[in-house]
Amino acid sequence: MRTLVIGGSVFLGRAIVEEALRRGHEVTTFNRGVSGQDLPGVEAVRGNRESPEDLARLAEGREWDAVVDVCGFVPRVVGDSVRALNGRAATYAFISSISACSGWPGSSPTDESTPRFDCAPDAGPEDGDYGVLKAGCERAVEQGFDGNALIIEPGLILGPHENVGRLPWWLTRIARGGKVLAPGDPEIAMQLIDARDIAAFTLSQAEAGTADRFFVSGVEGNATYRGLLQECRAVTGSDAEFVWVDDRFLLDREVQPWTELPVWAPRSPEFAGVWLPSSAKARAAGLTCRPVAETVRDTWAWLRDIPVERRSFGTARMSHGIDPDKEAEILAAWEGEASPAPA
Ligand SMILES: NC(=O)c1ccc[n+]([C@@H]2O[C@H](COP(=O)([O-])OP(=O)(O)OC[C@H]3O[C@@H](n4cnc5c(N)ncnc54)[C@H](OP(=O)(O)O)[C@@H]3O)[C@@H](O)[C@H]2O)c1
Repeated sequence: MRTLVIGGSVFLGRAIVEEALRRGHEVTTFNRGVSGQDLPGVEAVRGNRESPEDLARLAEGREWDAVVDVCGFVPRVVGDSVRALNGRAATYAFISSISACSGWPGSSPTDESTPRFDCAPDAGPEDGDYGVLKAGCERAVEQGFDGNALIIEPGLILGPHENVGRLPWWLTRIARGGKVLAPGDPEIAMQLIDARDIAAFTLSQAEAGTADRFFVSGVEGNATYRGLLQECRAVTGSDAEFVWVDDRFLLDREVQPWTELPVWAPRSPEFAGVWLPSSAKARAAGLTCRPVAETVRDTWAWLRDIPVERRSFGTARMSHGIDPDKEAEILAAWEGEASPAPA
């Protein structure tokens, strides 16, 4: 099978390339060569997806069975690559996001029938935020591609090489040890997925020539906050002591859910449905998910050799992690309230 990956050098795209090579695909990658390094064994075509000339040079004289577009964020730009690759590939797999669903993370469960944001397939970057634009990108593929349009909508992705910085931040913080501010209800059931499992599922669907749309998240309840943090402590061999601080206390002190304490989704209306999406359709179609413990172990195996000052805890869009002084202040305030000094 011949596979083109648009992107492919950082995290999820890298996992897709690695899995495609493992399966014996002939892999072409298309990126600018600035964010990461292509894996050995690929044909690396350098170019900017926003340049019509670069897209034409990519398409010239090449054909693929499947394109996997991992780095599409603007409908108009995705539409350009769809047009450039029409007739050059049988399947166009687009990595979207659960954020494309207008109902997420509302209080009802989300699945493939949940409406997507209303966004035109030729919208520009100014026409919406991340989730709105992802919905427009999906339409650019579904309406513009002549072959099979495969839309993959992942939930929260973890795993080795994570560039968003969520699990890397927790591993780094917990490895430092001492009292660690642990957010909210430790027993909330999450659903986490490893990039390598999304890679395998996407490529299996592309190999089968599927034209469909799938939510791809972990099995409901495959982790709790307590379980995730305990796994981090186990793999790092740390002496961390978790101090569980309730949602209200953190929100009152303006701790930002999801980012300042990564992956923390408080029990509040805004976050009520974060862990409610159903990936039942993808699982019925063959998605399998490794245990979260394996994801944590392998992420630490990759991260531990990177000096702390060179680790990245964020992207241009958002940074992750609480300032150590703020964490210490909150812990002191919480412990002061929990055990007031004797009168
Ligand atoms: N992390 C999550 O929890 C989560 C959840 C849901 C969905 N997602 C989606 O999953 C995907 C994750 O992507 P990733 O960063 O892991 O993918 P990746 O393919 O590993 O890395 C991004 C690639 O895009 C390339 N790129 C960026 N701008 C480019 C341009 N103008 N022209 C050509 N290539 C360009 C980069 O290379 P150069 O910069 O060198 O060009 C790099 O190879 C995204 O679509 C994201 O929306 C993520």
